[in-house]
Amino acid sequence: MSTNNHLNHSLILTVLLLIAFATKSEQSKQIPALYVFGDSLVDSGNNHYVPGEDLQNFFPYGIDFGTPTGRCTNGKTVADFLAIYLGLPFAPAYLGLSSKGKRVITTGINYASAGSGILPDTNNKTSFIMDEQIRGFERTVKGILPKGLGEEAVEKHVSESLFLVSSGVNDHFKNRTFRGSRKFASYLINEFKIRLQILHSLGARKFFVNNVPPAGCFPSISLHSKPIGKCSEKMNKRISFYNKKLLILLHELQTQLPGFTFVHSDLNKSIMEIRQNPHKYGIVEATKPCCPRSINGDLACRPYSDFCANRNTYLFFDDHPTERANQIYAIKCFIDHSICTPRINIRHFL
Ligand SMILES: *[C@@H]1O[C@H](CO)[C@@H](O)[C@H](O)[C@H]1NC(C)=O
Ligand SMILES: *[C@@H]1O[C@H](CO)[C@@H](O)[C@H](O)[C@H]1NC(C)=O
Ligand SMILES: *[C@@H]1O[C@H](CO)[C@@H](O)[C@H](O)[C@H]1NC(C)=O
Repeated sequence: MSTNNHLNHSLILTVLLLIAFATKSEQSKQIPALYVFGDSLVDSGNNHYVPGEDLQNFFPYGIDFGTPTGRCTNGKTVADFLAIYLGLPFAPAYLGLSSKGKRVITTGINYASAGSGILPDTNNKTSFIMDEQIRGFERTVKGILPKGLGEEAVEKHVSESLFLVSSGVNDHFKNRTFRGSRKFASYLINEFKIRLQILHSLGARKFFVNNVPPAGCFPSISLHSKPIGKCSEKMNKRISFYNKKLLILLHELQTQLPGFTFVHSDLNKSIMEIRQNPHKYGIVEATKPCCPRSINGDLACRPYSDFCANRNTYLFFDDHPTERANQIYAIKCFIDHSICTPRINIRHFL
């Protein structure tokens, strides 16, 4: 394919995405809210309120969003693209809501926190752990939604809402050292199961769950490999043990829990496809991060770091995907139907 064709392809996809989002928004009035749980892939600002380093509250984070928001990328996250697709506002960070804000919000809340995992001991001093996220949702169901919707409407609202859960990558690192094995995958999947069961017991029925991205290809890992830029196959292989079990778990819960339905999205596949064939997606740099631009040193994006000018041609913003990579993920999920199964279709959830 020539460069022109690549550009055209990317342009056509963007237009298709906009059309699909616009029509879906019309159809999706029946999904009343989006509740978001998990880690930095979807955090919309909760970490601002958690003790410890406030890592993403400075430029260039949020530079294409207009302002730093705590999102760990230059612009929109996959949670934001899902909200657009559903015709809902972006789910605001739970910890940032005022008591008045909590009383009036009925279109969804984001409890996710960068650094958190499934396990309670994963970065528990610097993030709002999943158990706390679920307790926050429990308080929402028992104390906040009854005020906004009326006591009798809460159960129906929760059962019709969509629950995005994105977690598991941070659990694979303990004290910055990678851990992963078949045994660990079984343990972690069981801990995840327990938490999905609790959400179900609180009334959640419709789940959107992505698998764990290939951490072995994150710039902070691959740029320390030999040759430079090569993914750690060992790391990816060990993460794949967990990813294989995740799909099995979701099918199992569907047979065990009344009303449980899900869409599984293959985040790993989306990132790997962009990395393997970047030009197909208009991506020029699929290995190095946008921030910092210099790949010597610790590879952390800091307030004074130099960063790339054209974010739309990068796969990685730091270790996290750029907004463009998140948009390509949304196209693959909602339009190509190549990474989300069953095909995400609003009717699937009605
Ligand atoms: C936090 O993690 C540490 C280990 O990293 C663990 O000892 C402690 O019990 C955890 N705290 C909670 C509240 O789970
Ligand atoms: C974490 O790693 C550092 C350096 O690798 C080490 O000095 C420290 O003892 C470790 N802490 C724990 C709790 O294992
Ligand atoms: C990611 O996807 C590739 C290709 O689809 C697959 O070979 C690999 O095992 C997956 N890795 C993980 C971590 O799931």
